[in-house]
Amino acid sequence: MTSTAHDRLLIIDFGSQVTQLIARRLRELNVYCEIHPFQKVDAAFLAEFAPKAIIFSGGPDSVMRDGSPRPPQAAYDLGVPILGICYGQQVMMQDLGGRVEAGEHATAEFGRAFVAPTEASDPILKGWFQSDREQVWMSHGDHVAEIAPGFGVLGTSPGAPFAITADPERRFYAVQFHPEVHHTPNGQTLYRNFVELAGFKGDWTMGAYREEAIARIREQVGDAKVICGLSGGVDSSVAAALIHEAVGDQLTCVFVDHGLLRLNEAEEVVGMFRDHMNLHVIHAQEQDLFLGELDGQSDPETKRKIIGRLFIDVFQKYANDIEGAEFLAQGTLYPDVIESVSFSGGPSVTIKSHHNVGGLPEKMGLKLVEPLRELFKDEVRALGRELGLPDHFIGRHPFPGPGLAIRCPGEITREKLEILRKADAVYIDQIRKHGLYDEIWQAFCAILPVRTVGVMGDGRTYDYACALRAVTSVDGMTADYYPFSHDFLGETATRIINEVKGINRVTYDITSKPPGTIEWE
Ligand code: XMP
Repeated sequence: MTSTAHDRLLIIDFGSQVTQLIARRLRELNVYCEIHPFQKVDAAFLAEFAPKAIIFSGGPDSVMRDGSPRPPQAAYDLGVPILGICYGQQVMMQDLGGRVEAGEHATAEFGRAFVAPTEASDPILKGWFQSDREQVWMSHGDHVAEIAPGFGVLGTSPGAPFAITADPERRFYAVQFHPEVHHTPNGQTLYRNFVELAGFKGDWTMGAYREEAIARIREQVGDAKVICGLSGGVDSSVAAALIHEAVGDQLTCVFVDHGLLRLNEAEEVVGMFRDHMNLHVIHAQEQDLFLGELDGQSDPETKRKIIGRLFIDVFQKYANDIEGAEFLAQGTLYPDVIESVSFSGGPSVTIKSHHNVGGLPEKMGLKLVEPLRELFKDEVRALGRELGLPDHFIGRHPFPGPGLAIRCPGEITREKLEILRKADAVYIDQIRKHGLYDEIWQAFCAILPVRTVGVMGDGRTYDYACALRAVTSVDGMTADYYPFSHDFLGETATRIINEVKGINRVTYDITSKPPGTIEWE
């Protein structure tokens, strides 16, 4: 639990796939919220958290099942507004004296539905009905058969007579659909109304967050020294800039140059942080070490393992020279730390090992500073802008820890890397020139382990082929290829072949993910 001066909203997670989206919607309303799994929320937790309002998420279970997830009674006794969503509605109705019926095929509802008002004057519906019916997204098997005493019906759909229910006196609201998803187009209005009637001021802004985060870092770190592995990616860059603002010279950044970076990347990153932002940055020039050990290796997993192991060795070597270092800074984000509800008995906490330094803290006896733990990616970008990082830097596409190694299928050679860097630079230049960079999640070039025959001028060529990759995505988990125009592709292929010696053939990769992955290895 994080201490903050702001009013707090608690989301009790019953295991819905879209619980994070609720948090996202609330953040957009400048409301501070935290998601916690139902198993953890008891009376003592509630007393300490002191929420100004509570949301019960959806979930995959059935309230008809013995032992199904429940909120504690104390949640209802706090006297704060509660909003129940889908499973959250059913649990609220059953807890408070209503009745839920098990789903049958005829009453289950999945997908688009339309809710009509029965009583539209309640403040929760202010501005919600744009016409005589409003599109919502349903996904339920069970349904409420009888509402709890004190509740009335505000809206109804053909499959859910109790689509929107409310007990205005207690400020308890419950809806059968999911207002947080994209397919409930006006869903944000419900959340806005809910937080308004709960009395939130909407003051959780990035400026306020920055000040609080700085104060917290100072409190945590004291006079100790902090090390940060700077990768040039947005997360570690924003974390470094924030920590620097909090504790200045107590921070040392280590930028590991493994020889697998893009054209001019090391100079740009080190130059920006060292010269423009006055951070203390160690530029670890370890190209020979990495490329030496990678020599002759062509198996993708072997390549990744070599890079991961060397990265830790190198980072540790440089960090050991920093006397008195007690903390390791990491750019861990909110989606990485949310405790997900597990019904299968699997691990309930997923934490990404960041930039290959996952095992380091224990190994080196370092404590972690993770100042971005509460933020989503786009909030990290907003914070970066607050801290004065340039826009083009903040908006950069993700770049993987193993770098160009996984864009060079097969054996890696310095010659291939050189060719790849140039081709990639031309490709990205094209994308920027055509104003497409921000529409694309990630774009890069891969050099293929084949040579093909071509003809240039009057001569025969026998050079490498490259593949261009550009995908749209929201989180990198799924992706689709970007639909470039044929003109763009033709112009880019011509430029690459003319400007990059060593490539005589250009292809465009139109595989989605799944079945492909974004990177080639
Ligand atoms: P794939 O290729 O799995 O990539 O579809 C999904 C996203 O993750 C990035 N990626 C990595 N990032 N270390 C990282 O920091 C890695 O080892 C790694 N492998 C893939 C990839 O660039 C894409 O954004």
